[in-house]
Amino acid sequence: MNILIINGPNLNLLGKREPEIYGYETLKDINKMIATEASKLDVNTDFFQSNHEGAIIDRIHEAMGVIDAIIINPGAYTHYSYAIRDAISSVNIPTIEVHLSDIHSREEFRKVSVIKDVCVKQISGLGPKGYINALNDLAESLKG
Ligand code: DQA
Repeated sequence: MNILIINGPNLNLLGKREPEIYGYETLKDINKMIATEASKLDVNTDFFQSNHEGAIIDRIHEAMGVIDAIIINPGAYTHYSYAIRDAISSVNIPTIEVHLSDIHSREEFRKVSVIKDVCVKQISGLGPKGYINALNDLAESLKG
């Protein structure tokens, strides 16, 4: 079972970026946590981060036929990237959208996700645990 974890723009700065909102863990720390959990579940992980919309779209396309499920935190692209939304619906790979912060209790523009409807579910506001929950959900549904 192969799961791809995609993080979008500015998430490379986790740990330093507005830690009161996003926490003190770096993306490397979070990915390590995910990899540890994945090994318990016998899941292979592939990690990708980019600040560029096209690069994220290319990575989603490359997942076709190779990746069984995707976990994506699209960062601010969540709120307006129809192109990432289309990429997810084009490849037809079960995808969970994850946000560290609770996007529903922040600015108005963050409450809207244009990605949500093409994902299996949205997890928001659980911090790094959101990625772990997504991993467990996907591993469970792929097994069953
Ligand atoms: C985020 C929430 C987005 O609104 C924001 O633009 C991000 C991070 C989160 O993980 O909480 O970059 O996706």
